Amino acid sequence: MTTIAGMAQTAPGTSIVIETDHTSLVLTVGDQQRLYQTYLGQRLSPVDQSRLPVSTQQAYVPSGLDNLFEPAIRMVHNDGNPSLELRYKSHKTDALAQGQIHTAIELRDPKYPVEVTLHFSAYPAEDLIKTWMEVRHHEKKPVVLSRFASAMLHFEAPHYWLTQFHGDWAEEVRQQEAELTSGIKIIDSKLGSRAQMYQSPMFLLGLDKQATETTGDVLAGTLAWSGNFQFSFELDNRNALRMMAGMNPFASEYTLKPDEKFETPAFIFTYSHQGKGLASRNLHRWARQYGVLDGTKERLTLLNNWEATFFDFNEQKLDALIGDAGKLGVDLFLLDDGWFGNKYPRNTDSTSLGDWQVAKSKLPNGLGHLVQTATKAGVKFGIWIEPEMVNPKSELYAKHPDWILKLPNRPEHYYRQQLVLDLTNPKVQDFVYGVVDELFTSNPQLAYIKWDCNRMMTNAYSQYLGRDQSHLYIDYVRGLYKVFGRMRQKYPHVPMMLCSGGGGRADYGAMPYFTEFWLSDNTDAYERVFIQWGYSQFFPSIAMSAHVTSWNKQQSLKFRTDVAMMGRLGYDIRVEEMTADELTFSQQAVREYKRLSDVIWHGDLYRLASPYEGNRAVSMFVNPTQTQAVVFAYNLHLRTGEELGRVRLQGLDPARQYRVQEINLMPGAKSNLPENNQTYSGDYLMKVGVLASGPNPAALTSKVLELTAQ
Ligand code: DGJ
Repeated sequence: MTTIAGMAQTAPGTSIVIETDHTSLVLTVGDQQRLYQTYLGQRLSPVDQSRLPVSTQQAYVPSGLDNLFEPAIRMVHNDGNPSLELRYKSHKTDALAQGQIHTAIELRDPKYPVEVTLHFSAYPAEDLIKTWMEVRHHEKKPVVLSRFASAMLHFEAPHYWLTQFHGDWAEEVRQQEAELTSGIKIIDSKLGSRAQMYQSPMFLLGLDKQATETTGDVLAGTLAWSGNFQFSFELDNRNALRMMAGMNPFASEYTLKPDEKFETPAFIFTYSHQGKGLASRNLHRWARQYGVLDGTKERLTLLNNWEATFFDFNEQKLDALIGDAGKLGVDLFLLDDGWFGNKYPRNTDSTSLGDWQVAKSKLPNGLGHLVQTATKAGVKFGIWIEPEMVNPKSELYAKHPDWILKLPNRPEHYYRQQLVLDLTNPKVQDFVYGVVDELFTSNPQLAYIKWDCNRMMTNAYSQYLGRDQSHLYIDYVRGLYKVFGRMRQKYPHVPMMLCSGGGGRADYGAMPYFTEFWLSDNTDAYERVFIQWGYSQFFPSIAMSAHVTSWNKQQSLKFRTDVAMMGRLGYDIRVEEMTADELTFSQQAVREYKRLSDVIWHGDLYRLASPYEGNRAVSMFVNPTQTQAVVFAYNLHLRTGEELGRVRLQGLDPARQYRVQEINLMPGAKSNLPENNQTYSGDYLMKVGVLASGPNPAALTSKVLELTAQ
């Protein structure tokens, strides 16, 4: 770590600049030594930074003094005084590894011994800024925090367009865009666990005009937190916008002891002057490097048994399925829910969570036998767990009622017939960590874990927290991260999928511990196009598990496969029901996917045609050296099939020649695209484009084109 500026005392009027290659955030010390946000936007030269007008927008507004709108932080001191004054004390800028620059700005209350530090990590090449807050005090008794934003940002534009992502089980991340009006718009979650079931902690904010994929000023922001979150957008009397992001203060007053540190999760944002597409590519590049475990490495293709068997399996059935994984050519077989419980074997979702011993009735020879079968079939073996949960019908429930979140004097409230374990309790953290550790210790060849979480919190009360119940939502997630941290210390690189009843948990708080996440239980390929489109705004394809299933058999296997190939390809299908052609096609698709996976996992994504704007969706990936690209084009007309027209490509080298080839065709099928096997300049492909379908396509059909520089 090299100190660039060292600990600096800044005189009023001087600025602290947080910048990336194309963005500047300028904070200036102003009257009363308060810190103001003077600029956020495209990068400014130092000369222009020094000419910025005086701002009245305090960078991180405390509650209780002259503030008239939503505060970033609220504290009640131990003497009952409900106000906080934050004055600039000092700042420090350090150059970290890989070009990151970290700035810490210390603010102090002149009357009370309270310190607030605003942290900013700038990733210049990725054009991304990560910011969070830390507070501590040295009062004689505890203080109470009731607001604790990770970030506050101010904007001044004639209009503000907010894109949010909302949904439900099997309908995750539906995109909605609307102009903000005066007052406060809040997007939040109060669900505790499986917190993102209805709203995702991510948004796009278009300034002045609605941003398109390639035009407009847009800020893309997301919170690195797997629990309750809150984004608020307050448009004031002067049409200025105050954005705040952080853990949801709902029911979460936090009692902070003297000298204890309270740190918020990070708010991660990128500012794009060229629309949403660039914002996503910035996020993807950052995520692969820093936000997702092993994001620059490889992934395993797999066959999962959930949709093929649900709970209904035995050793023989699994042996056959593992054989099918080998036949298909994927890397791993993933055994899903239903393999555990002896007093209560897990045959439905109403029993056994908590009893993580192999069900002898179903698998008499244990996991060892399945690992052996897998080894013989030339595939690896992975397993599903949901260790944060317990069913009332389980041995764990009987043994440790004090480990369960449930209200005294009230009936238990079930969701999927289960309850949540109290991860604020270190003993429960040990237990949950132990579930993973025991699996690896007894099965050293275990190569993959799917970590599920199928319910939110209701009627929640922690026996461990006693009188500090309002710490529950925050300390639960902190406890969970402690478990993830321990798990990764011992098993740093085993691939793991984060799942939460589908996409109830997909955020950059958890993803540094996981290699991929499950986007949705909805694997209907048509609906997946929308779901993948939504997540792709913030997450790179390498992190998105996408499986070919039989959820909707009306859709051709090719259509289903082409959609799943845009993520980390997997299958959750009965291979034995495939026709000979379908099997040949699938084996070929797995081979093609492996050949192209470097472009799909590590390339830049260009979204060319939105499913929200017509009956087609087209996206492409381009490798960093612009020598290889893959285009995925989907005809989304449900009944009649519609010619998709011409689509202009992006991200190619205009001076290079590219050979266009349609791939992923069913055995015997021939491409009907005029561009197939032709060579064009990148310039032509980006100005004139390619046809995204041949003539008279049927409903729900798709094309995959490979472009190779000559
Ligand atoms: C919910 C997950 O989203 C599914 O993929 C599957 O693992 C089930 N849970 C198992 O109970």
